[in-house]
Amino acid sequence: MALDLTARAFTVGSSSVRITRCSPDQDPVHDFARAVVRGLSDRPRWLPCRFLYDAEGSKLFERICDTPEYYLTRTETAILRAYAHAICRLTGAATLVELGSGNARKTELLLEAYGRAHGAVRYVPVDVSEHALYESTSALVARHRQLSIEAVLGTYENALDLFERLSPLVLLFLGSTVGNLNQTEAAAFWTRVSRALAPGDFVLLGADLVKPAPVLDAAYNDAAGWSAAFTRNVFARMNRELGSGIDLGTIEHEAAYREEWGRVEIFARFTQRQIIHLRPLSRSFTVEAGERVMTEISRKFDLRELATYLSTFGLQTVRAFTDATGWYAVILLRRLDDGGSHRSRSVPRPEEPHTARL
Ligand code: AVJ
Repeated sequence: MALDLTARAFTVGSSSVRITRCSPDQDPVHDFARAVVRGLSDRPRWLPCRFLYDAEGSKLFERICDTPEYYLTRTETAILRAYAHAICRLTGAATLVELGSGNARKTELLLEAYGRAHGAVRYVPVDVSEHALYESTSALVARHRQLSIEAVLGTYENALDLFERLSPLVLLFLGSTVGNLNQTEAAAFWTRVSRALAPGDFVLLGADLVKPAPVLDAAYNDAAGWSAAFTRNVFARMNRELGSGIDLGTIEHEAAYREEWGRVEIFARFTQRQIIHLRPLSRSFTVEAGERVMTEISRKFDLRELATYLSTFGLQTVRAFTDATGWYAVILLRRLDDGGSHRSRSVPRPEEPHTARL
């Protein structure tokens, strides 16, 4: 199902980059419009969070990462800096496949460790932002020799089909992106990942851990306002791509940790009634003053619970690396031979009230 529309290919010295566009939908604007229809028709209204990351959104997310309140990126980077070599020793030589690679700056620590230990490294970043893929891979090949990059422009689902060809591999899923998945989506995701991996393949998972609510609330409401700009950008993108005609000044960013669900919930709240046009589909929606549209969830994990949960998908924790405060974890998991066979014995979970599908 992977359409091979090679977007770009280039070489820098002994390094090479190929970016392959993998998309089940040949028209990204229609794909976006249909997703908006689905989410705005639902109650409560929501938008799939992958649309937050157009070129502008990817840039805004980087600004969030630089804020003093957003400890996630900084903490994960410190963990990777301290343990990249240990991780590399534990997995041996392997292709590094990364879901949601973004600017790939943290990944560089791993690429360096693998390069030093094993020579040539194959890196397969997967991202929905063409801009982010192009920028990050250009920077990487310019800085690192012996790096062969086979980038995939597409969703995580698109990438799963490639695993068989890329094994032995380490699947990098960093930045606590896993927190964007609600319980239902996470179960579907891990089932598919586990099935796509070969026994002996590894997953390196970054997961943000449960901590006091004020720390979390601050991280998602930075004083400089980048978090608010990031939330607003998905509506700005609707204006740009779908001719939505939304007055962005009527949108307030609202983010708070909900302890009962172990997750931060992020909404856009409209202070005034807005008519949202979706020109490509000739449709429109009216959002009333005071109404909210959920743009994202960000789950926070208990390390032991998470390890137990992942083991039900045949993913065994080899080692968990954490920072001194215990705020964040990077977990190395290994796909067992009997992956997934325990699934049916797991306890059914209650359904969460909202969704924010990837
Ligand atoms: C990229 C999904 C990990 O949930 O912390 C940050 C996204 N949104 N601030 C997160 C995000 C608002 C981020 N992830």
